[in-house]
Amino acid sequence: MSPDDSTRRGPRSSVAIADASTRGGPSRLLGIGAYRPRREVPNAEIIEAIDSTDEWIRTRSGITSRRFAGPDETVAAMSIAASKQAMDDAGVSAGELDCVIVATISHLLQTPAVAAQVAAELGATPAAAFDVSAACAGFCYGVAMAADMVRAGSARHVLVIGVEKLSDITDPHDRSTAFIFADGAGAAVVGPADEPGIGPVVWGSEGERFDLIRQETYWPVDGFGTEDDDPENSKPTHLLRMEGNSVFRWASFEMPKVAQRALDAAGVTAADLDAFVPHQANMRITDTMARQLKLPDHVAIARDIAEQGNTSGASVPLALRRLMDDGETRSGDLALLIGFGAGLVYAAQVVRMP
Ligand code: UT7
Repeated sequence: MSPDDSTRRGPRSSVAIADASTRGGPSRLLGIGAYRPRREVPNAEIIEAIDSTDEWIRTRSGITSRRFAGPDETVAAMSIAASKQAMDDAGVSAGELDCVIVATISHLLQTPAVAAQVAAELGATPAAAFDVSAACAGFCYGVAMAADMVRAGSARHVLVIGVEKLSDITDPHDRSTAFIFADGAGAAVVGPADEPGIGPVVWGSEGERFDLIRQETYWPVDGFGTEDDDPENSKPTHLLRMEGNSVFRWASFEMPKVAQRALDAAGVTAADLDAFVPHQANMRITDTMARQLKLPDHVAIARDIAEQGNTSGASVPLALRRLMDDGETRSGDLALLIGFGAGLVYAAQVVRMP
Protein backbone atom coordinates (compact mmCIF):
# COMPACT_ATOMS: atom_id res chain seq x y z
CA MET A 1 0.00 0.00 0.00
CA SER A 2 1.45 3.37 -0.94
CA PRO A 3 1.24 6.29 1.50
CA ASP A 4 -1.30 7.90 -0.89
CA ASP A 5 -3.63 4.86 -0.68
CA SER A 6 -3.61 4.86 3.11
CA THR A 7 -4.81 8.46 3.20
CA ARG A 8 -7.65 7.71 0.71
CA ARG A 9 -9.08 4.64 2.46
CA GLY A 10 -11.72 4.89 5.20
CA PRO A 11 -13.97 7.85 5.95
CA ARG A 12 -12.88 10.64 8.18
CA SER A 13 -16.48 11.71 8.72
CA SER A 14 -19.08 9.06 9.62
CA VAL A 15 -22.10 11.43 9.52
CA ALA A 16 -24.94 9.91 7.39
CA ILE A 17 -26.16 11.87 4.34
CA ALA A 18 -29.90 12.61 4.44
CA ASP A 19 -31.84 10.57 1.83
CA ALA A 20 -33.90 12.76 -0.52
CA SER A 21 -36.00 9.75 -1.59
CA THR A 22 -37.91 9.85 1.71
CA ARG A 23 -39.54 13.04 0.33
CA GLY A 24 -40.46 11.53 -3.06
CA GLY A 25 -43.30 9.39 -4.40
CA PRO A 26 -45.45 8.63 -7.45
CA SER A 27 -46.00 11.26 -10.12
CA ARG A 28 -48.35 12.08 -12.98
CA LEU A 29 -48.90 14.62 -15.74
CA LEU A 30 -50.77 17.53 -14.11
CA GLY A 31 -51.27 19.72 -17.18
CA ILE A 32 -50.45 20.03 -20.89
CA GLY A 33 -49.95 23.12 -23.05
CA ALA A 34 -49.24 23.79 -26.71
CA TYR A 35 -48.11 26.60 -28.96
CA ARG A 36 -48.73 26.38 -32.70
CA PRO A 37 -46.99 29.02 -34.84
CA ARG A 38 -49.30 31.47 -36.61
CA ARG A 39 -48.27 30.72 -40.20
CA GLU A 40 -50.00 27.73 -41.77
CA VAL A 41 -48.09 26.42 -44.80
CA PRO A 42 -50.05 24.19 -47.20
CA ASN A 43 -48.31 21.58 -49.35
CA ALA A 44 -48.84 23.86 -52.35
CA GLU A 45 -46.20 26.24 -50.92
CA ILE A 46 -43.59 23.48 -50.56
CA ILE A 47 -43.91 21.40 -53.70
CA GLU A 48 -42.27 23.55 -56.36
CA ALA A 49 -38.84 23.63 -54.69
CA ILE A 50 -38.78 19.80 -54.36
CA ASP A 51 -40.54 18.80 -57.59
CA SER A 52 -43.34 17.10 -55.67
CA THR A 53 -47.14 17.13 -55.54
CA ASP A 54 -49.77 17.69 -52.90
CA GLU A 55 -51.03 14.17 -53.53
CA TRP A 56 -47.58 12.56 -53.06
CA ILE A 57 -47.04 14.33 -49.75
CA ARG A 58 -50.54 13.47 -48.47
CA THR A 59 -50.33 9.80 -49.40
CA ARG A 60 -46.69 9.24 -48.33
CA SER A 61 -46.77 11.21 -45.06
CA GLY A 62 -50.36 12.20 -44.22
CA ILE A 63 -49.39 15.87 -44.10
CA THR A 64 -51.73 18.46 -45.67
CA SER A 65 -50.21 21.55 -44.07
CA ARG A 66 -47.68 22.46 -41.40
CA ARG A 67 -46.80 25.47 -39.21
CA PHE A 68 -43.64 27.55 -39.70
CA ALA A 69 -42.62 30.00 -36.99
CA GLY A 70 -41.92 33.65 -37.78
CA PRO A 71 -38.93 35.66 -36.50
CA ASP A 72 -40.67 36.59 -33.24
CA GLU A 73 -41.75 32.98 -32.62
CA THR A 74 -38.40 31.89 -31.22
CA VAL A 75 -37.66 28.60 -29.47
CA ALA A 76 -37.82 30.46 -26.13
CA ALA A 77 -41.02 32.37 -26.98
CA MET A 78 -42.85 29.24 -28.17
CA SER A 79 -41.67 27.35 -25.05
CA ILE A 80 -42.98 30.08 -22.76
CA ALA A 81 -46.39 30.21 -24.47
CA ALA A 82 -46.84 26.41 -24.27
CA SER A 83 -45.61 26.37 -20.65
CA LYS A 84 -48.08 29.03 -19.52
CA GLN A 85 -50.97 26.93 -20.82
CA ALA A 86 -49.55 23.78 -19.18
CA MET A 87 -49.10 25.56 -15.84
CA ASP A 88 -52.66 26.99 -16.00
CA ASP A 89 -53.99 23.53 -16.87
CA ALA A 90 -52.06 22.04 -13.92
CA GLY A 91 -52.88 24.84 -11.48
CA VAL A 92 -49.17 25.09 -10.69
CA SER A 93 -47.45 28.47 -10.41
CA ALA A 94 -43.95 29.31 -11.64
CA GLY A 95 -42.76 29.56 -8.05
CA GLU A 96 -43.69 25.91 -7.47
CA LEU A 97 -41.45 24.59 -10.27
CA ASP A 98 -38.23 22.93 -9.10
CA CYS A 99 -36.87 22.02 -12.52
CA VAL A 100 -37.35 23.02 -16.17
CA ILE A 101 -36.30 20.57 -18.89
CA VAL A 102 -36.35 21.63 -22.55
CA ALA A 103 -36.12 18.89 -25.19
CA THR A 104 -34.97 20.42 -28.48
CA ILE A 105 -32.53 20.01 -31.36
CA SER A 106 -33.16 23.40 -32.93
CA HIS A 107 -32.12 25.94 -30.30
CA LEU A 108 -29.21 27.38 -32.23
CA LEU A 109 -26.98 28.08 -29.24
CA GLN A 110 -24.97 25.20 -27.81
CA THR A 111 -24.80 27.13 -24.53
CA PRO A 112 -26.44 28.44 -22.41
CA ALA A 113 -29.39 26.07 -22.23
CA VAL A 114 -32.61 27.71 -23.39
CA ALA A 115 -34.24 26.08 -20.34
CA ALA A 116 -32.58 28.63 -18.05
CA GLN A 117 -33.94 31.53 -20.13
CA VAL A 118 -37.40 29.97 -20.18
CA ALA A 119 -37.34 29.43 -16.40
CA ALA A 120 -36.32 33.05 -15.82
CA GLU A 121 -38.96 34.48 -18.17
CA LEU A 122 -41.65 32.34 -16.52
CA GLY A 123 -40.51 33.57 -13.10
CA ALA A 124 -39.44 30.06 -12.12
CA THR A 125 -36.01 30.99 -10.78
CA PRO A 126 -34.15 29.41 -9.09
CA ALA A 127 -35.52 26.18 -10.62
CA ALA A 128 -32.87 23.83 -12.01
CA ALA A 129 -32.84 24.13 -15.80
CA PHE A 130 -31.23 22.15 -18.62
CA ASP A 131 -31.76 21.09 -22.24
CA VAL A 132 -32.01 17.53 -23.57
CA SER A 133 -30.85 16.52 -27.05
CA ALA A 134 -32.82 13.37 -27.84
CA ALA A 135 -34.55 14.57 -31.02
CA CYS A 136 -38.04 13.15 -31.52
CA ALA A 137 -37.76 11.10 -28.30
CA GLY A 138 -36.77 14.18 -26.26
CA PHE A 139 -40.15 14.86 -24.66
CA CYS A 140 -40.57 11.22 -23.57
CA TYR A 141 -37.00 11.27 -22.20
CA GLY A 142 -37.90 14.43 -20.26
CA VAL A 143 -41.09 12.93 -18.82
CA ALA A 144 -39.11 9.84 -17.71
CA MET A 145 -36.50 11.97 -15.96
CA ALA A 146 -39.16 14.18 -14.38
CA ALA A 147 -40.99 11.12 -12.99
CA ASP A 148 -37.71 9.82 -11.56
CA MET A 149 -36.96 13.21 -9.97
CA VAL A 150 -40.36 13.35 -8.28
CA ARG A 151 -40.00 9.74 -7.13
CA ALA A 152 -36.48 10.35 -5.82
CA GLY A 153 -37.47 13.57 -4.06
CA SER A 154 -35.08 15.85 -5.94
CA ALA A 155 -38.02 17.85 -7.38
CA ARG A 156 -41.73 18.19 -6.60
CA HIS A 157 -42.89 19.88 -9.82
CA VAL A 158 -41.01 19.60 -13.13
CA LEU A 159 -41.87 21.47 -16.33
CA VAL A 160 -41.03 19.39 -19.42
CA ILE A 161 -41.05 21.23 -22.75
CA GLY A 162 -40.65 19.84 -26.28
CA VAL A 163 -39.96 22.62 -28.78
CA GLU A 164 -38.59 22.88 -32.31
CA LYS A 165 -38.00 25.51 -34.95
CA LEU A 166 -36.93 22.97 -37.56
CA SER A 167 -37.59 25.42 -40.40
CA ASP A 168 -34.28 27.06 -39.37
CA ILE A 169 -32.33 23.87 -40.10
CA THR A 170 -34.37 22.36 -42.96
CA ASP A 171 -33.31 22.73 -46.57
CA PRO A 172 -36.39 23.87 -48.56
CA HIS A 173 -34.89 22.12 -51.63
CA ASP A 174 -34.35 18.73 -49.94
CA ARG A 175 -36.99 16.26 -51.18
CA SER A 176 -36.79 14.02 -48.12
CA THR A 177 -37.11 16.66 -45.39
CA ALA A 178 -38.63 19.90 -46.76
CA PHE A 179 -42.25 18.71 -46.66
CA ILE A 180 -42.05 16.83 -43.38
CA PHE A 181 -40.39 19.00 -40.71
CA ALA A 182 -42.16 21.89 -38.96
CA ASP A 183 -42.24 24.14 -35.89
CA GLY A 184 -44.10 24.31 -32.57
CA ALA A 185 -43.94 23.72 -28.83
CA GLY A 186 -45.67 21.55 -26.25
CA ALA A 187 -45.22 21.38 -22.49
CA ALA A 188 -46.28 19.27 -19.51
CA VAL A 189 -46.13 19.79 -15.77
CA VAL A 190 -45.15 16.62 -13.91
CA GLY A 191 -45.88 16.55 -10.19
CA PRO A 192 -46.80 14.38 -7.21
CA ALA A 193 -49.74 11.96 -7.30
CA ASP A 194 -51.47 9.51 -4.97
CA GLU A 195 -51.18 6.67 -7.50
CA PRO A 196 -48.50 6.17 -10.19
CA GLY A 197 -49.61 8.13 -13.28
CA ILE A 198 -46.43 7.64 -15.32
CA GLY A 199 -45.41 4.06 -16.08
CA PRO A 200 -41.84 2.75 -16.34
CA VAL A 201 -39.98 4.11 -19.35
CA VAL A 202 -38.66 1.74 -22.00
CA TRP A 203 -35.87 3.63 -23.69
CA GLY A 204 -32.68 3.08 -25.59
CA SER A 205 -30.41 4.03 -28.46
CA GLU A 206 -28.91 2.56 -31.62
CA GLY A 207 -25.97 4.89 -32.12
CA GLU A 208 -24.43 2.71 -34.82
CA ARG A 209 -27.15 4.21 -37.05
CA PHE A 210 -26.32 7.80 -36.06
CA ASP A 211 -26.01 8.90 -39.68
CA LEU A 212 -29.62 8.18 -40.72
CA ILE A 213 -30.80 11.59 -39.47
CA ARG A 214 -28.05 14.12 -38.95
CA GLN A 215 -26.72 17.59 -39.44
CA GLU A 216 -24.12 17.42 -42.18
CA THR A 217 -21.40 19.26 -40.30
CA TYR A 218 -20.58 20.55 -36.85
CA TRP A 219 -21.93 23.99 -36.02
CA PRO A 220 -19.46 26.30 -37.78
CA VAL A 221 -17.35 28.41 -35.44
CA ASP A 222 -17.75 31.51 -37.59
CA GLY A 223 -21.49 31.39 -38.30
CA PHE A 224 -23.39 29.14 -40.66
CA GLY A 225 -21.13 28.17 -43.50
CA THR A 226 -21.64 27.05 -47.07
CA GLU A 227 -20.08 24.21 -49.00
CA ASP A 228 -18.01 26.49 -51.16
CA ASP A 229 -17.25 30.17 -51.42
CA ASP A 230 -19.83 30.99 -54.06
CA PRO A 231 -22.99 32.06 -52.19
CA GLU A 232 -25.07 31.80 -55.38
CA ASN A 233 -24.33 28.13 -55.97
CA SER A 234 -23.48 26.82 -52.54
CA LYS A 235 -25.77 25.21 -50.01
CA PRO A 236 -25.73 25.64 -46.24
CA THR A 237 -24.02 22.79 -44.43
CA HIS A 238 -25.71 22.87 -41.02
CA LEU A 239 -29.01 21.52 -42.33
CA LEU A 240 -30.74 18.26 -41.40
CA ARG A 241 -30.38 15.29 -43.74
CA MET A 242 -32.41 12.11 -43.44
CA GLU A 243 -32.26 8.68 -45.04
CA GLY A 244 -36.05 8.72 -44.94
CA ASN A 245 -36.82 5.21 -46.11
CA SER A 246 -34.30 3.53 -43.75
CA VAL A 247 -35.74 5.49 -40.81
CA PHE A 248 -39.24 4.61 -41.99
CA ARG A 249 -38.46 0.87 -42.01
CA TRP A 250 -36.70 1.00 -38.63
CA ALA A 251 -39.60 2.90 -37.02
CA SER A 252 -42.29 0.68 -38.55
CA PHE A 253 -40.54 -2.58 -37.59
CA GLU A 254 -38.82 -1.84 -34.28
CA MET A 255 -41.00 0.76 -32.57
CA PRO A 256 -44.11 -1.41 -32.14
CA LYS A 257 -41.90 -3.80 -30.13
CA VAL A 258 -40.72 -0.94 -27.90
CA ALA A 259 -44.34 0.23 -27.47
CA GLN A 260 -45.41 -3.29 -26.48
CA ARG A 261 -42.58 -3.47 -23.93
CA ALA A 262 -43.83 -0.18 -22.41
CA LEU A 263 -47.34 -1.66 -22.09
CA ASP A 264 -45.88 -4.78 -20.44
CA ALA A 265 -43.73 -2.70 -18.08
CA ALA A 266 -46.82 -0.73 -16.99
CA GLY A 267 -48.82 -3.93 -16.53
CA VAL A 268 -51.53 -2.96 -19.03
CA THR A 269 -52.70 -4.32 -22.38
CA ALA A 270 -53.62 -2.58 -25.62
CA ALA A 271 -57.29 -3.15 -24.72
CA ASP A 272 -56.83 -1.13 -21.50
CA LEU A 273 -55.66 1.96 -23.42
CA ASP A 274 -57.83 4.98 -24.18
CA ALA A 275 -55.30 6.77 -26.40
CA PHE A 276 -52.18 6.15 -28.46
CA VAL A 277 -49.88 9.13 -28.92
CA PRO A 278 -46.84 8.24 -31.02
CA HIS A 279 -44.28 10.75 -32.28
CA GLN A 280 -45.92 12.36 -35.29
CA ALA A 281 -43.30 11.20 -37.80
CA ASN A 282 -45.47 9.97 -40.64
CA MET A 283 -49.15 8.91 -40.66
CA ARG A 284 -48.17 5.58 -42.25
CA ILE A 285 -45.81 4.79 -39.35
CA THR A 286 -48.63 5.60 -36.89
CA ASP A 287 -51.02 3.29 -38.79
CA THR A 288 -48.45 0.48 -38.90
CA MET A 289 -47.79 0.73 -35.16
CA ALA A 290 -51.53 0.76 -34.37
CA ARG A 291 -51.98 -2.41 -36.47
CA GLN A 292 -48.97 -4.19 -34.92
CA LEU A 293 -50.17 -3.33 -31.42
CA LYS A 294 -53.69 -4.54 -32.34
CA LEU A 295 -55.24 -1.42 -30.83
CA PRO A 296 -59.01 -1.83 -30.41
CA ASP A 297 -61.33 0.65 -32.14
CA HIS A 298 -62.08 2.54 -28.93
CA VAL A 299 -58.45 3.75 -28.64
CA ALA A 300 -58.10 7.36 -29.84
CA ILE A 301 -55.08 7.66 -32.14
CA ALA A 302 -53.22 10.99 -32.33
CA ARG A 303 -53.09 12.30 -35.89
CA ASP A 304 -51.81 15.80 -35.24
CA ILE A 305 -49.27 15.48 -38.07
CA ALA A 306 -51.95 16.16 -40.71
CA GLU A 307 -52.05 19.90 -40.03
CA GLN A 308 -48.95 20.36 -37.91
CA GLY A 309 -46.19 18.41 -39.70
CA ASN A 310 -43.40 16.55 -37.91
CA THR A 311 -42.17 18.75 -35.06
CA SER A 312 -39.66 16.28 -33.56
CA GLY A 313 -39.42 16.89 -29.79
CA ALA A 314 -42.64 18.95 -29.76
CA SER A 315 -44.83 16.43 -31.55
CA VAL A 316 -45.98 14.24 -28.61
CA PRO A 317 -47.14 17.09 -26.31
CA LEU A 318 -48.72 18.93 -29.26
CA ALA A 319 -50.62 15.76 -30.16
CA LEU A 320 -51.64 15.21 -26.52
CA ARG A 321 -53.05 18.74 -26.33
CA ARG A 322 -55.03 18.29 -29.55
CA LEU A 323 -56.64 15.07 -28.26
CA MET A 324 -57.71 16.98 -25.13
CA ASP A 325 -59.00 19.99 -27.10
CA ASP A 326 -60.94 17.76 -29.52
CA GLY A 327 -62.61 15.94 -26.61
CA GLU A 328 -61.07 12.61 -27.67
CA THR A 329 -59.60 12.00 -24.21
CA ARG A 330 -60.76 12.61 -20.65
CA SER A 331 -58.83 13.28 -17.47
CA GLY A 332 -57.52 9.99 -16.08
CA ASP A 333 -57.53 8.19 -19.44
CA LEU A 334 -54.63 5.81 -20.12
CA ALA A 335 -52.38 6.85 -23.00
CA LEU A 336 -49.35 5.16 -24.53
CA LEU A 337 -46.62 7.63 -25.58
CA ILE A 338 -43.65 6.79 -27.81
CA GLY A 339 -40.95 9.02 -29.28
CA PHE A 340 -38.23 7.93 -31.74
CA GLY A 341 -35.76 9.58 -34.04
CA ALA A 342 -32.24 10.91 -34.64
CA GLY A 343 -29.56 9.08 -32.73
CA LEU A 344 -31.19 6.71 -33.24
CA VAL A 345 -32.99 7.00 -29.89
CA TYR A 346 -36.40 6.03 -28.54
CA ALA A 347 -38.53 6.16 -25.38
CA ALA A 348 -42.04 4.96 -24.52
CA GLN A 349 -44.23 5.04 -21.43
CA VAL A 350 -47.88 4.67 -20.39
CA VAL A 351 -49.35 7.76 -18.71
CA ARG A 352 -52.64 8.93 -17.27
CA MET A 353 -54.05 12.01 -19.00
CA PRO A 354 -54.13 15.13 -16.81
O1 UT7 B 1 -39.01 12.35 -37.06
C1 UT7 B 1 -37.82 11.64 -37.03
C2 UT7 B 1 -37.98 10.32 -37.63
N1 UT7 B 1 -38.35 10.49 -38.99
C3 UT7 B 1 -39.18 9.66 -39.56
O2 UT7 B 1 -39.68 8.77 -38.91
C4 UT7 B 1 -39.45 9.82 -41.02
C5 UT7 B 1 -39.42 8.46 -41.66
N2 UT7 B 1 -39.46 8.48 -43.12
C6 UT7 B 1 -40.56 8.83 -43.82
O3 UT7 B 1 -41.53 9.32 -43.27
C7 UT7 B 1 -40.56 8.53 -45.30
O4 UT7 B 1 -39.39 7.84 -45.62
C8 UT7 B 1 -40.69 9.78 -46.22
C9 UT7 B 1 -42.09 10.35 -46.10
C10 UT7 B 1 -39.64 10.82 -45.81
C11 UT7 B 1 -40.49 9.35 -47.67
O5 UT7 B 1 -41.42 8.34 -48.02
P1 UT7 B 1 -40.92 6.96 -48.68
O6 UT7 B 1 -42.13 6.16 -48.95
O7 UT7 B 1 -39.89 6.37 -47.77
O8 UT7 B 1 -40.30 7.46 -50.04
P2 UT7 B 1 -38.90 7.06 -50.71
O9 UT7 B 1 -37.81 7.92 -50.17
O10 UT7 B 1 -38.71 5.57 -50.64
O11 UT7 B 1 -39.15 7.45 -52.21
C12 UT7 B 1 -40.17 6.77 -52.99
C13 UT7 B 1 -40.27 7.43 -54.35
C14 UT7 B 1 -38.93 7.55 -55.09
O12 UT7 B 1 -39.20 7.43 -56.47
P3 UT7 B 1 -38.99 6.02 -57.23
O13 UT7 B 1 -37.54 5.68 -57.04
O14 UT7 B 1 -39.91 5.04 -56.56
O15 UT7 B 1 -39.38 6.32 -58.64
C15 UT7 B 1 -38.49 8.96 -54.78
O16 UT7 B 1 -37.64 9.47 -55.78
O17 UT7 B 1 -40.75 8.78 -54.22
C16 UT7 B 1 -39.78 9.70 -54.76
N3 UT7 B 1 -39.74 10.87 -53.89
C17 UT7 B 1 -40.56 11.91 -54.03
N4 UT7 B 1 -41.52 12.20 -54.94
C18 UT7 B 1 -42.19 13.35 -54.79
C19 UT7 B 1 -38.98 11.05 -52.80
N5 UT7 B 1 -39.26 12.23 -52.21
C20 UT7 B 1 -40.25 12.77 -52.97
C21 UT7 B 1 -40.97 13.98 -52.85
N6 UT7 B 1 -41.93 14.22 -53.78
N7 UT7 B 1 -40.76 14.85 -51.85
